Amino acid sequence: MLAIDNSCIVIFGASGDLTQRMLMPALYKLFTQQKLPTAFVILGVSRSTYSDQAFRDKLINNIPASAVINKQLLADFCQRIFYQSIDTANVNDYAILKDRISKLNDTFKLENNALFYMATPPSLYSVIAQHLAAHHLNNEQKGWKRLVVEKPFGYDLDSAITLDKALYQHFQEQQIYRIDHYLGKETVQNMLVLRFANSIFEPLWNGKYIDYIEVTGAEALGVEKRGGYYDGSGAMRDMLQNHLLQVIAMVAMEPPSVINADSMRDEVVKVLQCLKPLSEHDLKHNLVLGQYTESKVRGEDLSAYRAEAGVPDDSRTETYVGLKMFINNWRWNGVPFYIRTGKRMPTRVTEVVIHFKKTPHPVFSAHAPENKLIIRIQPDEGIVLGFGLKQPGSGFESQEVAMDFHYSDLKKTELLTAYERLLLDLIKGDATLFSRSDAVRACWNFVQPILDYKKRSFSLYGYASGTWGPVEAEHLLIKDGHKWRSPCKNLTDTDYCEL
Ligand code: NDP
Ligand code: BG6
Repeated sequence: MLAIDNSCIVIFGASGDLTQRMLMPALYKLFTQQKLPTAFVILGVSRSTYSDQAFRDKLINNIPASAVINKQLLADFCQRIFYQSIDTANVNDYAILKDRISKLNDTFKLENNALFYMATPPSLYSVIAQHLAAHHLNNEQKGWKRLVVEKPFGYDLDSAITLDKALYQHFQEQQIYRIDHYLGKETVQNMLVLRFANSIFEPLWNGKYIDYIEVTGAEALGVEKRGGYYDGSGAMRDMLQNHLLQVIAMVAMEPPSVINADSMRDEVVKVLQCLKPLSEHDLKHNLVLGQYTESKVRGEDLSAYRAEAGVPDDSRTETYVGLKMFINNWRWNGVPFYIRTGKRMPTRVTEVVIHFKKTPHPVFSAHAPENKLIIRIQPDEGIVLGFGLKQPGSGFESQEVAMDFHYSDLKKTELLTAYERLLLDLIKGDATLFSRSDAVRACWNFVQPILDYKKRSFSLYGYASGTWGPVEAEHLLIKDGHKWRSPCKNLTDTDYCEL
């Protein structure tokens, strides 16, 4: 068990959306569960001016009333929260920050441990690292110093390498924690347990028995207020390069010898380095890029992506990606992975579907039932195993049935959210669920041909908001004799599905 050291949690970008909406509520939840260290403070840092109290008030407004177990606990939590206004880009201001950290350290006996969480625009990541170092705030002679990098880690392969170089000038790799919140999701981690703790699945987990794999990361929401950011990013950078490739790594990696940061991440990088490079043929025939258009869904008018705030009205940014890809290694050679992600789809669902091969000879019916394992990452986390049974009555016709496990059925189980889990690991110094630099590069290396392709003329297909993406993406599978499993909000694809 790693210790939970007393520490100062410094959050740059404290006035921003991520801090308010995700980080602070997660820290509060951990506090209510007594998972935070005995002595800790949270020091918010950004340019806006707040007193400690005004910052606490802003935070309280973002904590849902249902999460407030009792007012005294919230008041106790707030007593550990402080705010320091500095110009993040000005090296001289870090003297003020250093002084504040030092005073808090002495008052609360924080043992000189400090976590620097960069929830700022990515352009500031290397600047903050450099300025911290200029004031020796990277020095681990007394107490650990950890640097947390939020996604995106670079904009493409070259900028990711440049960012690494800039961070390495001042921090060692073991001090750097790159957050991909998908790795904090319980069901993503559960894939490892499902695969490596059960002898019933692992022997079948390869190209000999698996026909193809689908990975879907669908969202019902559009880009909301993030049009300005999203238009420079697109679904490729926003979801596929990081979250979905990490999910694929969990599905496809070899078993680590033990679960610790090095062994896990060694296996993750190995499989990511085996992603089959995309050829010109793949870019033309196995990739579909789409953008949502306006439509009316259940009486609600949904606007086109180009009409969203911050998005140019001639934008060619993709809000949907569908891709057929392969992994060039012993286990997966020849098994297609169909992956897709999109905004403004009919429902929010992230799932992996493992389609097993049919039996060699259909003894019982011409249409043998499908054997498939559906790993529901969200919502309603769980696993469905679909297989065939005899239809009751005369004859030997088979029909498909399902065994359906829901995490919510486990009594007394309260899943930690991704940010809760990852913040806890950060304080413990457990890097297992954080992306290592070589893995990040392998992901960029894989998507770089798509980014280059997008700079040339490329086909971008419209799809009406509230649908499963461009029709061309259906053909990705149809031409191979398959079709996407398109679950609706009750997460089935049977005929009682309500879209
Ligand atoms: P916001 O724009 O809401 O907040 C950015 C913060 O950085 C503000 O607190 C801002 O405060 C501060 N800041 C400091 N210097 C500058 C500067 N020169 N220009 C602009 N802002 C500055 O961003 P988010 O909170 O949404 O995102 C923060 C980081 O987290 C980004 O890298 C984003 O990609 C990443 N992220 C965000 C997610 C989300 O859901 N929001 C999800 C995953 C990753 P002030 O102006 O007071 O200095
Ligand atoms: C973020 C993306 O990293 O992940 C968002 O920037 C996306 O655009 C989000 O909506 C999806 O995360 P989740 O946990 O809701 O699937």
